[in-house]
Amino acid sequence: MKNIAVLTSGGDSPGMNAAIRAVVRTSIYNGAKIYGIKRGFNGLIHGDVIEMNLSSVADIIHRGGTILRTARCEEFQTAEGLQKAVNIADVFDFDGIIVIGGDGSFRGARELSKKGIACIGVPGTIDNDLAYTDFTIGFDTAVNTVLDAINKIRDTTTSHERISIIEVMGRNSGDIALYSGLAGGAESIIVPEVEYTCDDVCKRLLQGKNRGKLHSIILLAEGVGKATKLAEEIHNKIGMEVRVTILGYLQRGGSPSAFDRILASRLGARAVEALLQGESGQAVGIRDNKIISEDFGKALEMKKTFNTDMYELAKILSI
Ligand code: F6P
Repeated sequence: MKNIAVLTSGGDSPGMNAAIRAVVRTSIYNGAKIYGIKRGFNGLIHGDVIEMNLSSVADIIHRGGTILRTARCEEFQTAEGLQKAVNIADVFDFDGIIVIGGDGSFRGARELSKKGIACIGVPGTIDNDLAYTDFTIGFDTAVNTVLDAINKIRDTTTSHERISIIEVMGRNSGDIALYSGLAGGAESIIVPEVEYTCDDVCKRLLQGKNRGKLHSIILLAEGVGKATKLAEEIHNKIGMEVRVTILGYLQRGGSPSAFDRILASRLGARAVEALLQGESGQAVGIRDNKIISEDFGKALEMKKTFNTDMYELAKILSI
């Protein structure tokens, strides 16, 4: 009998529950015992562990958030914290831990692996900022949430013939802005990966106005800077009325999309299989619709290529 544990860590993302469900049920299907660790690495350090069964994950595939809760744990980043985590893993006799989270969580999992605790990472973050995988769990839902917001903001922006800047999350990644901006027909998409000037943005706004556009939507990724600052700059330069909407936590909540539920189910199941096959120090992901795994070291070092084709297309289509 194998003892497997699962935790969610860092910022939550829609689909984490679907991933937990897949981990729990695949473990039990394969005759393993499965434990849930509460509040990420914090719960591991403090022994906040529960045994899970088939019913523990009933009725959660459609729910946002994470039933295991999550945390960003500073103590775990110290040598003492890491050792406490190793001790607890030994006490519970874990044969492996599945860590669902983003890059920070994978760094933690890599450290645990180095200490001899087998770990497999499952990418759960709305940011889509892990280069080794085409998509992370939660990104698609976040994009759809932003898209819904764009549609609503466009209605009132048009009525008032204004400009709206919508600030979206993503940390240093512009993917949420890019995908939702292309899907929502935004007039400008501003991301950390591509340099921009306020003059360029203003020029596009004036060109649109001169050919009769009633509104303009600008998608701004948070990694570039504050939407309120850009709004002020635009107003000071060309005198147009600008409103700002910061979508914030709206983007991290809500029922996961079909895409995220399927991705989470496939990745969660593969993570368990990987542990049962004796693998460790790997992150599972998806490339060209195939489930893959990559060493934590490589997965964390790889530099993400920004999709400039999509970016240019969005520009062309919003002239
Ligand atoms: O990594 C997910 C994310 O939502 C980022 O997009 C954002 O920058 C960050 O987390 C916010 O973190 P917190 O909720 O801890 O403020």
